[in-house]
Amino acid sequence: MMNHIFPTYKQYPMEPVSGHDWHLTDETGKTYVDFTSGIGVCSFGYSNDFIEQSVQTQLGKIWHTSNLYPSKLQDQVAEMLAPEGMLAFFCNSGTEANEAAFKLARKATGKTKILAFKNGFHGRTYGSMSLTGNPDIQAGFAPLVPGVDFATYNDDGAIGQITSDYAAVILEVIQGEGGVVPANKAWLQAVAKQCHESGALLIVDEVQTGIGRTGTKFAFQQFGIDPDIITCAKALGNGLPIGAMLGKQALASAFGPGSHGTTFGGNKISLASAKAVLTQLTPAFLKQVQAKGQVVFEQLEDLIAPLPIVKDVTGMGLMIGIHLTADVKVADVIAELQKQGMLALPAEHNTLRLLPPLVMSEADLVSGIQLIQHVLQDVAVAANGAVK
Ligand SMILES: Cc1ncc(COP(=O)(O)O)c(C=O)c1O
Repeated sequence: MMNHIFPTYKQYPMEPVSGHDWHLTDETGKTYVDFTSGIGVCSFGYSNDFIEQSVQTQLGKIWHTSNLYPSKLQDQVAEMLAPEGMLAFFCNSGTEANEAAFKLARKATGKTKILAFKNGFHGRTYGSMSLTGNPDIQAGFAPLVPGVDFATYNDDGAIGQITSDYAAVILEVIQGEGGVVPANKAWLQAVAKQCHESGALLIVDEVQTGIGRTGTKFAFQQFGIDPDIITCAKALGNGLPIGAMLGKQALASAFGPGSHGTTFGGNKISLASAKAVLTQLTPAFLKQVQAKGQVVFEQLEDLIAPLPIVKDVTGMGLMIGIHLTADVKVADVIAELQKQGMLALPAEHNTLRLLPPLVMSEADLVSGIQLIQHVLQDVAVAANGAVK
């Protein structure tokens, strides 16, 4: 179908051409309830008037100025986004936010080594890919950036690996692409403690988990840890490209003039969208996400977890992983859901991943889970006659 595009993506046989709220419509006019949010991006859905108005207003003023000139909008969004005592560097994507974090960690500490985790995902550019603990993603691209070691996620052995040799440790508090694998809270706290004691900076990649996805602005806030650097992107612009690296004020001198930069980072149109997103990411809104998450996980426990082809259900808030046994292929489940008007995502290890827009109604969240239940039962029967 796409004759002029590199075939880097295995694509589904439908093209969404319009959207409203949490529904997408394809070229044939078929509509879908969207449990993907464009992979965790359109958390406020496809017709948020406030975001649209904010972007329209900015479009009418000015689209771009160089970072050689100050931007009050950047400063405002940084203040809204960053935890107290942190500064922001704006870029255009998650991988760029992690590149910035990688560079800042080396420059600020004068050390070169970084510890990352097997099964983690941090992006596709050289630095971020080198931090990504998935050999399939790295295959064919050697030599990678040197100085990266990998530890096993949720494994106590990882804590002993963190020494003063390391500039930083980078991790996701829920491994997203890796299969929606949450960190064990006590383990993560031990990792954070060991980082602080050994002088390794703790970089938390909130590209997928951040901006309300798990019911708090950042997921790490539910784990009682204090990162030195946070990276985010995806949902920050609700679909306009923007990423940010947030770091503690004490790191500022390592990122002085000329040390790092990007032409488009902090683009005013993307920032107008981010400001509108953050304005709506109120404590009351986050409470609603938590409440929806609770209803969803109750439904998952009742309807999905007991199915014989389901190994486990994991996640937090509205970031959900349904881990399937080898009897069925997640791709077949997604194809069948698509036929029946629902979009869902895969993740590693045969995981069905759900990242619905945070604004999705409770009723549609629940009927989506009911549809998944039926489809999983039907696919299991088709695969091996498993008992319903
Ligand atoms: C945790 C995490 N980090 C980084 C990235 C890379 O972000 P981007 O695709 O915007 O470069 C992703 C993308 O899926 C991600 O999930």
